[in-house]
Amino acid sequence: MDKPREFPNWEQLYQEQQVESMPWFHSQLDPNLDRALTQLNIHNGTCLDIGTGPGTQAMALAQRGFQVTASDLSETAIAKASQKAKEKGLAISWQQDDILNSQLKQEFDFVFDRGCFHVFPPECRHDYVRVVAGLIKPEGYLFLKTFSVKETRPEGPYRFAPQAIEEIFQSCFHLYSSEETVYQGTLNPLPKALFCVLKKL
Ligand SMILES: C[S@@+](CC[C@H](N)C(=O)[O-])C[C@H]1O[C@@H](n2cnc3c(N)ncnc32)[C@H](O)[C@@H]1O
Repeated sequence: MDKPREFPNWEQLYQEQQVESMPWFHSQLDPNLDRALTQLNIHNGTCLDIGTGPGTQAMALAQRGFQVTASDLSETAIAKASQKAKEKGLAISWQQDDILNSQLKQEFDFVFDRGCFHVFPPECRHDYVRVVAGLIKPEGYLFLKTFSVKETRPEGPYRFAPQAIEEIFQSCFHLYSSEETVYQGTLNPLPKALFCVLKKL
């Protein structure tokens, strides 16, 4: 059984803190996503970045030519990221949206989740799977980065092994690949992470 984990009030956090100082802040495209897109020969199309936070991943994807929608629960996170993207001349659809009760209507070629799923307690995970599956085209991909069970810091988000991801997502996704990696950001040492590629059934 997962031990219950605590999270900040996301809206308050984004109001009070500079995004650059947040543990998950990484200005470049996540290297695991970068490799996966190359390996799968995905170079264009529509995508959704769930729990975009600072918006760096959405902006990096837009810079590569993807048509990007980026969502977050926090209105302030969305406002700050949208302002930065505007300064960079990037066209991204920014949406304040709770992914567990999403109002998004589009189906995307792929979805990226870097650190949003791993903040949800076990009782929310099946809702997440159902909602996210509804946002992806048939045979589209979900790229999912979470903390790994190999991470030993006491604090922080929920942690996962590939088998748990397979079990949680099996109603709507096939676990195509999984890889032990790190979560790039501002923590030292970098947290141990799991990167999964899930294909919608
Ligand atoms: C660990 S941060 C990761 C941010 C970003 N993906 C990145 O890698 O820089 C988790 C993000 O999930 C967002 N979040 C939390 N609950 C959410 C929900 N129910 N729906 C959408 N976003 C949520 C938070 O506001 C926060 O920005």
